[in-house]
Amino acid sequence: MSTYSQEIDKRRTFAIISHPDAGKTTLTEKLLLFGGAIHVAGAVKSNKIRKTATSDWMEIERQRGISVATSVMGFQYKDYKINILDTPGHEDFAEDTFRTLTAVDSVIIVVDSAKGVEKQTRRLMEVCRMRHTPVIVFVNKLDREGRDAFDLLDEIEEELQLSVRPMTWPIGMGERFKGVYDLFSSELNLFKVDKQHIAEDVKKIDSIDSTVLDESVGPSLAERLRADIELVNGVYPDFDRERYLRGELAPVFFGSALNNFGIRELLDCFVRIAPSPQPLQAQEREISPHEEPFTGFVFKIHANMDPNHRSCIAFVKICSGRFERNKYYRHIRLDKQFRFSSPTAFMAQKKEIVDDAYAGDIVGLPDTGNFKIGDTLTEGELLHFKGLPSFSPELFQYIENADPMKQKQLIKGIEQLMGEGVAQLFVNQFNGRRIIGTVGQLQFEVIKYRLLHEYGAECRWEPIHLYKACWIESDNREVLDNFKRRKAQYMAHDIEGRDVFLADSGYVLQMAQQDFPEIKFHFTSEF
Ligand code: G4P
Repeated sequence: MSTYSQEIDKRRTFAIISHPDAGKTTLTEKLLLFGGAIHVAGAVKSNKIRKTATSDWMEIERQRGISVATSVMGFQYKDYKINILDTPGHEDFAEDTFRTLTAVDSVIIVVDSAKGVEKQTRRLMEVCRMRHTPVIVFVNKLDREGRDAFDLLDEIEEELQLSVRPMTWPIGMGERFKGVYDLFSSELNLFKVDKQHIAEDVKKIDSIDSTVLDESVGPSLAERLRADIELVNGVYPDFDRERYLRGELAPVFFGSALNNFGIRELLDCFVRIAPSPQPLQAQEREISPHEEPFTGFVFKIHANMDPNHRSCIAFVKICSGRFERNKYYRHIRLDKQFRFSSPTAFMAQKKEIVDDAYAGDIVGLPDTGNFKIGDTLTEGELLHFKGLPSFSPELFQYIENADPMKQKQLIKGIEQLMGEGVAQLFVNQFNGRRIIGTVGQLQFEVIKYRLLHEYGAECRWEPIHLYKACWIESDNREVLDNFKRRKAQYMAHDIEGRDVFLADSGYVLQMAQQDFPEIKFHFTSEF
């Protein structure tokens, strides 16, 4: 195998997803600690949007600014290069998270052992399912009283529509939590509580019947563990890596991120089973990560909120080949050559200028408005990467110009902000009015502020009551045209010029689906 291919195979690019507060930040930090990328806990916390700030979007943006450096955290563990892509926990930035999921090869889902599967987790899992992303589940906070492990596994199977296979099993819970038993290596991992560093007490036992178990955790917990393990082995299928890679079977780990319980088992298994960079589909053909010419796409744009320096960082996922500093690449949408003198990569918490990076890695390219979400870069080949769908927004408002002298600025501002993926624009085909769709209320405030401060344009919001935006398609052209005529008032174009039906209620949508069975209504732009 070429050294080039070896580099690619070493890479594990993934995201940790969870409902806010389940422990994503804490787990990220502990993984970095194990990887030796940081030395004391607490370092990643600045990355998190603090709860006090949830209603103050300026503060959130400021904190998001801090988090640029930790948007991607790369570190070396054993012989692997691990890239963790950070996903904003805040619900209003769910769209950011959806897009980040298009740039990873697998995910770890964190579930709070007391709360089980929560709303945001369900939503994010839907996106993973669409893409058949392999999933590992980490059940967290076993040091607190939580729910019965079997109940939790049932809930995960049902709610996330996945088969599960426990890889470790908790010994006790809450105050009586003693550690975890590794079902595959038959290791008993009894940990000392140490929130700052890694402290472990690993005992290898020959079998679950070993008396060492009784001595270590006491006879009653030992008995309980034996009974549990018998049940686990009887009820759950064997771990099958192929099924995991197809996104059908999720290995499950138990532990406490805060106390370093069960993290090493998770990480060791992760590097062994998680996929290296996978082939990606472009409109023209499938691209293998092992192809030598560089290709990549922009999945995230992070704007600097400082009005005096309108600059962004475009995050590029490298899909194939080697990216090199100062080499000319073709920006497909603009059909122009660009070279980048200061691409950054992210090792641990440091953002550094790099000379090269490989498929699976993420590079940050400083930008002044040349990039939009979804843009492709290549060494010359005409390619368009697919797979960055838009999702139906949850909230909608008309955007109106509040300063007639600044119409041009307003249009330009809207176009650029939409290109960054801040929100979605729909233009009503009937009256030409512009409608902005977002996932959360915060975005409306962000847009208004940024239009004014970065583009000198003033906007005004006007209410519109809409339920969902649906991308429509049909093999029957006539039926489609008929539908569009009949629903003319509710038809819009998205930023790509695609037909979108704006349903104002669930009932209207249901009726439309009934009346037009030949039309498919999609809640995402890619189908
Ligand atoms: P998030 O990124 O998913 O939103 O969650 P985060 O890691 O910030 O964790 C949320 C809260 O849960 C934090 O407490 C964190 O300390 C706590 N936590 C994480 N893992 C565990 C665990 O294994 N056991 C217990 N008992 N708690 C855990 P906080 O009080 O909100 O924040 P902090 O002041 O402790 O930082």
